[in-house]
Amino acid sequence: MTDLRANRYRTAWAGDLRAGDVGGDVRVSGWVHRRRDHGGLIFIDLRDRSGLLQLVFHPEDAPEVHAAAHGLRSEDVISAEGPLVPREEENVNPEMPTGEIELNVRAFEKLADAETPPFQVDEEGPIEEVLRLRYRYLDLRRERMRSNIELRHAAVQLTREYLNSAGFLEIETPMLTRSTPEGARDFVVPSRLQPGAFYALPQSPQLFKQLFMVAGFERYYQIVRCFRDEDLRADRQPEFTQLDLEMSFVEEEDVMSVIDGWLKSVLAVAGIEVDLPLERVRYDDAMLQYGTDRPDRRPGMEIHDLGDAFSGSEFKVFADALAGGGVVRGLRAGGEFPRSRLDELTERAKELGAKGLVWATVETGGDWRSPVAKFLSPEERGRAAETLGAVEGDTIFAVADSTEVAARVLGTLRLELAGPREGHDLFWVVDFPMFGWNEEEQRLDPLHHPFTAPVGDLDGDPAEWRSRAYDVVLNGWELGGGSIRIHRSDVQERVFDALGLPPDEARERFGFLLDALRYGAPPHGGIAFGMDRVVALMAGLDNIRDVIPIPKTASGADLLTGAPAPLDAHQLRELGLSVTGR
Ligand code: AMO
Ligand code: AMP
Repeated sequence: MTDLRANRYRTAWAGDLRAGDVGGDVRVSGWVHRRRDHGGLIFIDLRDRSGLLQLVFHPEDAPEVHAAAHGLRSEDVISAEGPLVPREEENVNPEMPTGEIELNVRAFEKLADAETPPFQVDEEGPIEEVLRLRYRYLDLRRERMRSNIELRHAAVQLTREYLNSAGFLEIETPMLTRSTPEGARDFVVPSRLQPGAFYALPQSPQLFKQLFMVAGFERYYQIVRCFRDEDLRADRQPEFTQLDLEMSFVEEEDVMSVIDGWLKSVLAVAGIEVDLPLERVRYDDAMLQYGTDRPDRRPGMEIHDLGDAFSGSEFKVFADALAGGGVVRGLRAGGEFPRSRLDELTERAKELGAKGLVWATVETGGDWRSPVAKFLSPEERGRAAETLGAVEGDTIFAVADSTEVAARVLGTLRLELAGPREGHDLFWVVDFPMFGWNEEEQRLDPLHHPFTAPVGDLDGDPAEWRSRAYDVVLNGWELGGGSIRIHRSDVQERVFDALGLPPDEARERFGFLLDALRYGAPPHGGIAFGMDRVVALMAGLDNIRDVIPIPKTASGADLLTGAPAPLDAHQLRELGLSVTGR
């Protein structure tokens, strides 16, 4: 690990000792990883952060020490001393870095007792996650978890070095602040000194980093905790860590090239190779071909528009959809499917909001085995098969609906139909629309955040505006997103207006930003990455909890400490709060 100052506990890291160290006495400290009694001999694998070392207790050499070793149990903390010796030829363990040597214990001290742990620390294997989280300090003793945390450390340090050498300053931003909208609910903190007033924990440092650009810092970064009260999934936590950065006097390419270089070097730490520059995929193409703006392109099976193939079709389902401004889209899944599976997929499509699912297996001569074959002319079938690249024996699926529903349904089915996915698919998504339509609230919502610079006729229909935003996608996960920002207060006011935010409310919530933009704001832009996601993907994991030392459950609970917890009456009174229900 590192140089060590010898003290009463250790003269060396246990896992760092090698055959070359044989010859003298060593002292090591750590945990009893595993104990085996063999005839008269007792073997203990001693564990510290650097790894494992085999300790041997001989009954003849040191009878009292040997007798005392009988009482040692898993996870007891001990310190042991004696000569480091080579193992007998037949006992060499090539799987273990210290497998050629062992320590003959002449003296040892038990430093702490351990109760029987609720799960085995020395074995990989499924353990109920509730137990792992409740006893996280034991879970983190396991090799796999330790290496995740070490990987995280390596990624964070490399990130700092990379950005420091590119002239970025690491600057902190407040945690007790006002709402910084990123599309989630805020976590709020009541103020004792101003009863009835609340801080919001930041969803991101977005506004502060923009103010740093107004302040003239030019290049800022921070590895920073963000808080979002939203429904949790495998790739989401209520508090998570961003690599957040911002640059002045830049355009898209400047930010993207800094990130290209960073991704290449940080992913290399995990042996993931990246070719630069990263590919750029237009938002519209991603939505059409994959039904999502964060596609996993590895399984292929692109979605195609079948509007031309079925224009003029007499099949009512298709004709109605096309006449109503909707789309007919499909994909080629390849291979034949049993009827039961086709029925399952149809049900799944309905669950996802489709009215139905057309399936067809292409037979000899271009005939289709499909419940709807009789409604479709040979020309229509031929054109559709050609558009989808389907040949004899292939099965195709099609959905007729609004653009959104067709994209969602086919985009989801596509991934559910995909086989194992290998390798890595890393790219930029660019050329986003500025807004999306929020059906529930009947208004426009920013696709990124309202501080993103719009492109288009600002006197025209905002629904037509594009934005100067860019996202990074890896294997179907949104790793990061950013944009060139608005640096003029009139444009910022125009965007608030397009979002239906009345001027007085805009001023009340974001007056400090609007003011700052009036005092000479440089053109600027930046990006933020989910560090937890980056590290999880580096570690080959599909959830971020295993790269977060102390994560929360899907219901937002920290099982280790029992947070969140009720406040006592005294605290509530001091804060001027009363709890009315739950
Ligand atoms: P955005 O909201 O896209 O952008 O967030 C940036 C990245 O943060 C990660 N992320 C999360 N990770 C874990 N749990 C969550 N709940 C969670 N939410 C987001 C994602 C995401 O890509 N201020 C802008 C950035 C900018 O414009 O510079 C922002 O926060 O990986
Ligand atoms: P119906 O006319 O509703 O009996 O549907 C005939 C076939 O078309 C069934 O196999 C349905 O699953 C399918 N279908 C119905 N509506 C749609 C739609 N909007 N998109 C795709 N397939 C559909």
